[in-house]
Amino acid sequence: MKASDIPGGPKSGEILCPLTDIVDGRAKEFIYRAGDEVREIFIQRMGNEVYAYENSCPHAYIPLNMNAGVFTEKSGKYFICQNHGALFDIKTGQCLGGPCNGQSLTSVEINLKDGNIIAC
Ligand code: FES
Repeated sequence: MKASDIPGGPKSGEILCPLTDIVDGRAKEFIYRAGDEVREIFIQRMGNEVYAYENSCPHAYIPLNMNAGVFTEKSGKYFICQNHGALFDIKTGQCLGGPCNGQSLTSVEINLKDGNIIAC
């Protein structure tokens, strides 16, 4: 899904934030509203790479995290659902074990250009 497809979301080409706004290994959340609809995405930084997803588990449609910016388990290798312990691949969003096994987080298309994270 393109970030610009989210109701109330950013326009294509809009700068979301500089890469340096996100601590390596952590994420930044963005909340968008259109009428009664509220959608949240998070952008995870892994070194100079970024991965963006809707913050909504595919099985219960609730956020993965409980603390701002913290989406990975202790090793930092996987996303984890803080409610159920389900693990997700950071690069693909696929659930590797847990109630949503085999399902995937909804990825959000973004670009990294000149040190800025940009909505597609
Ligand atoms: S909400 Fe789906 S694994 Fe926790």
